Amino acid sequence: MKAIVATDRTAEAAGIELSERPGPTPAINDVVVGVRASGFVPAEWEWPSTWVDRSGHDRAQPIIGHEFAGVVTSLGYGTTGLSIGQRVFGITDWHRDGTLAEYAAVEARNLAPLPGAVDFTVGASLPTSGLTAWQGLFQHGRLRAGQSVLAHGAAGAVGSMVTQLAREFGAYVIGTGRAADRQAALDFGANEFLALDEGNLDDIGEVDLVFDVIGGDVQRRSASIVRPGGTLVSVVGPVESRPVDGLALDFVVESVPSQLAEIVDRVRDGRLRTRIGTVANLDDAVPALNPTERRKGKTVIHVRP
Ligand SMILES: NC(=O)c1ccc[n+]([C@@H]2O[C@H](COP(=O)([O-])OP(=O)(O)OC[C@H]3O[C@@H](n4cnc5c(N)ncnc54)[C@H](OP(=O)(O)O)[C@@H]3O)[C@@H](O)[C@H]2O)c1
Repeated sequence: MKAIVATDRTAEAAGIELSERPGPTPAINDVVVGVRASGFVPAEWEWPSTWVDRSGHDRAQPIIGHEFAGVVTSLGYGTTGLSIGQRVFGITDWHRDGTLAEYAAVEARNLAPLPGAVDFTVGASLPTSGLTAWQGLFQHGRLRAGQSVLAHGAAGAVGSMVTQLAREFGAYVIGTGRAADRQAALDFGANEFLALDEGNLDDIGEVDLVFDVIGGDVQRRSASIVRPGGTLVSVVGPVESRPVDGLALDFVVESVPSQLAEIVDRVRDGRLRTRIGTVANLDDAVPALNPTERRKGKTVIHVRP
């Protein structure tokens, strides 16, 4: 089968190639899915799981991409809950070969049914950003209605989901990003917007929850405006700046079918939308995933027709 593999850790996107690989066989409780569309999260380069397996052994030329939508083509020994021909979407195990390939093996418990009303392109754009926002806000951030959320990168893939879900939940959302993203962030539902290249985070006052997708100096300045008892949640690696009197944590998203169902329900009825920027076929995935200029919105690769 055709697959996109990473050849060189230091080269990141410059080191990916279209390659020919054997199709996967399903392990116990797995399904094999014919991948229709796949997303990709740049954090994969930095996560150890891309380069070593769960035993700590090097992974040679891993297949990248772990969020996807597709159709179940075979079942592993003992697999229950899904059937051949079923439309599914979700995130595959970060330590295993991924979904920028014609077929992927994945544990059935990582997948949720994809309703017929949601196409594969949209389905593939949802799992990572949708689940990251959901888990950061509700599981790790313990958001309550009426609280204030500082949603960094509010026009980006994760930040736009954070903004929409937090607003629906009854929070007051201050979106941030570049000045050019103001209108997009407001359209996603931010109550107000701060351009990080123009404004000063200290002018916002205190917030209950910071959702950090940027890190570095932005994280440091954000930590200082967390209200006593508030939380800073980061998805860009171990937290370097902590609130004086609050919680700080980082996490890597997990595939939770009940949360995928919550997210896709909202897409189906129009409460939630994704920002898809570039769509390309698997044969053109290498340049699409390593663009020469910065592109807005999520890149989704169509794998099989
Ligand atoms: N831990 C996890 O489970 C997890 C899950 C998903 C994503 N992530 C990570 O989270 C980060 C965000 O992912 P994403 O998919 O949402 O990326 P994205 O779509 O590129 O969104 C990031 C947004 O933040 C903006 N931004 C970045 N740096 C900025 C700065 N210094 N000033 C103002 N705006 C800035 C970007 O603007 P520009 O486009 O103009 O730069 C963009 O709008 C990535 O590092 C990703 O790897 C982690």
